Amino acid sequence: MPAALLPTLRTLLPTATIWDAAELASRDPGFDARNFGASALVRPRDVEGVATLVKFCAERGVSLVAQGGRTGLAGGAATSQGQLICDLGGLTQIEEIDPFARVAIVQAGVTLGALQEACAVQGLDPGIDLAARGSATVGGMASTNAGGIMAFRNGTMRHRVLGLEAVLPDGRVFSDLTRVLKTSAGYDLKHLFIGAEGTLGIVTRVAVRLDPVAGASATALVGVPDAASAQRIARHFLGSTSARLSAAEILWRNFASLMQRALGYAPGSLPLDAPCLLVLGLGADSIEAARSALEDGLAAVWEEAGILDGLVASSEAQAAAMWRLREETVEIERAHPMAPSFDVSVPVGGLDAYVARIEAGLKKIDASYAPYVYGHLADGNLHISINCDGPVAHERHAAIEGVLYAGLRDAGGSFSAEHGVGLEKRAAYERHADPVKRDLTKAIKGLIDPAGVMNPGKVVG
Ligand code: LAC
Ligand code: ZN
Repeated sequence: MPAALLPTLRTLLPTATIWDAAELASRDPGFDARNFGASALVRPRDVEGVATLVKFCAERGVSLVAQGGRTGLAGGAATSQGQLICDLGGLTQIEEIDPFARVAIVQAGVTLGALQEACAVQGLDPGIDLAARGSATVGGMASTNAGGIMAFRNGTMRHRVLGLEAVLPDGRVFSDLTRVLKTSAGYDLKHLFIGAEGTLGIVTRVAVRLDPVAGASATALVGVPDAASAQRIARHFLGSTSARLSAAEILWRNFASLMQRALGYAPGSLPLDAPCLLVLGLGADSIEAARSALEDGLAAVWEEAGILDGLVASSEAQAAAMWRLREETVEIERAHPMAPSFDVSVPVGGLDAYVARIEAGLKKIDASYAPYVYGHLADGNLHISINCDGPVAHERHAAIEGVLYAGLRDAGGSFSAEHGVGLEKRAAYERHADPVKRDLTKAIKGLIDPAGVMNPGKVVG
């Protein structure tokens, strides 16, 4: 992408924000240092601007990488010289919230947090939540099929999207903004764009399904001997008709200890001394009802689940402290910069056996390896970070993946649960995805993006 093209782009898109490479170098690239490696960034003001930009790039063979909140964890938004970033940060309109039909029509650059706030005013919620809510955008979340902490109840982004609009690589607009649940009108092509990470086009608008939100919620931190025990507790609350389980997050001891140290929590201030910790969220009509439902429920399963310790938060501040322990995962990155991290789905019956197996397998690779494991208990999505400093060599990385991914596909799990493939999981995708699926994916990519200008090198190669 020659710098000489920038003045033409400025004339073509007079209201867009345009940064050249020098300007990019002086800005915060988000979660991945490679995000701002491109020759320029363009932030159009509207969908027409995105289409104009895409056509401009298609005519000149310039490759284009869509970016939302830049909170991705698989390198899907990484860019390099010669590429151009299409920043969706200018498309921030919540165009409509229909409280009766329970649907929101939003532009791609709306953050999850902004959508949650706007829906809450109407007693509704997008039904999906994740730690990066302040920056992650609806378009980016659709493009990576984000999941988060409520997926066990409400599904992933794929299950929240009713309709979608995307600009195709040739500049045409694919418009399928259905706002109804039922549509069996042939191939449901919107799902191609969900999880495609911008390799088939740029998502510009989304119709998101909404749910009624509970009046209040309570939080508990519970110490248990293992994941099976935590699951017994979660199952108990899932069966409740008076209160709604909204979160069941599990933290293995190694992870919890690092977080406790990093956040400077005083010993004894929270019940943190167990092999596994469970952060529970429960919604009910009032805070009192939610707290007593948590207390009663924990008391009812205490013996049977072998609970070691537990505390229901008695204030918002205490609940926030429990959640920080789970969500401030940037502390892992701080303690082990660039260390390899993984995002697997394990069928829920096998969590303890899986963790025991990978701990033993990793020790065989390097006796000092003791992984940090945490994640979404109720759907089996575990996040795993290795306690090493810096990135590891290619063969070492492949050996670690060999341990972590062994048998997952046969068991019905996945080597990539909710962060996508991007660049980080490209090799794993070639090794672990079904070969027929890979063939079909390549054919679809070739059909929709024959010139290979949309986020090249990601997901499909
Ligand atoms: C989380 C992100 C890493 O669950 O997926 O915190
Ligand atoms: Zn997660």
